[in-house]
Amino acid sequence: MLIDRVFCAYFSPTGGTKRVAMALQRGFIEGIEGLTPSVLTYNFLTPERRAQKVPQFTANDLVIFTYPVFFGRMPWAYQEWPELKGNGAQAVVVSVYGNRAIEDAERETMAFLSNHGFKILGRIEAIAEHSQERTLAQGRPNQEDKDELKLMAKKILQRIKQAHDEHPEQPLTESLPELPFDRTTPLKAKGKAPAVPAPLSEEACEHCDHCAHMCPCGIIDEKTNKVAPEDYDKCMGCRACMHVCHDGYRGFSDEVNAAIAQRMAMVKAANSEPKPNVLQLA
Ligand SMILES: Cc1cc2nc3c(=O)[nH]c(=O)nc-3n(C[C@H](O)[C@H](O)[C@H](O)COP(=O)(O)O)c2cc1C
Repeated sequence: MLIDRVFCAYFSPTGGTKRVAMALQRGFIEGIEGLTPSVLTYNFLTPERRAQKVPQFTANDLVIFTYPVFFGRMPWAYQEWPELKGNGAQAVVVSVYGNRAIEDAERETMAFLSNHGFKILGRIEAIAEHSQERTLAQGRPNQEDKDELKLMAKKILQRIKQAHDEHPEQPLTESLPELPFDRTTPLKAKGKAPAVPAPLSEEACEHCDHCAHMCPCGIIDEKTNKVAPEDYDKCMGCRACMHVCHDGYRGFSDEVNAAIAQRMAMVKAANSEPKPNVLQLA
């Protein structure tokens, strides 16, 4: 049995993760000899898309699950996602990070998907511009990265085709092994966003409400465009709300910006060497 559909699924608050997903998608669309599945995208950034627009996956699907690393962990916005059901679909976990480190995010995502009924076929580590400090991994994924990611997509298809050719009568769930991963070591503590972004000027804010609609955590009030203090802990600091704010009315105070810049200068100094993209398959 071969796969019917490839879903390029992405959670991308500021666009870097989406660029990685789209580079992979190019490879799946081109396909390989003997395997050119239908290719679909699934943007799961907002609570609405995660609750109401979840594809019905089957064991003949391949899901490319592309997400950004935050504080060495999986974004907690989608930790509670009962509507997500893998139904035996193959998954490749794509951890997109800003050239610092992935730490526990990948195995946390693998366990999350496995608990939701997916089979882990492989993993990709991919670099994108650091959304807290744009000069770290600036311009990545660049053309070289995109070509490499496209090739990785083809290698994934080749792995599936190989399993099928070896056992043409078997379903993929049986002919493909699962990638082992550490499920038991406790995860590192959840990081804390340095501050919660807010409208910087009450008068300038045009109340277009894009920030409220795009917040992955669904915590921005549509009337005030602010986050209530009791929800501060839910904010991941992902910057989706700042990214969609047309005129830059939303952000942090100068003080907070200075503190972030100081911390990120150290992160940048320790991670100036460009890190590679990596693919591993079961
Ligand atoms: C709050 C926050 C925490 C981050 N934590 C990490 C990290 O632990 N390691 C890392 O290498 N990059 C980290 N990054 C960088 C992002 O993983 C990277 O820029 C990613 O491409 C962002 O995805 P997006 O462009 O789709 O929003 C962090 C970014 C933010 C905003």
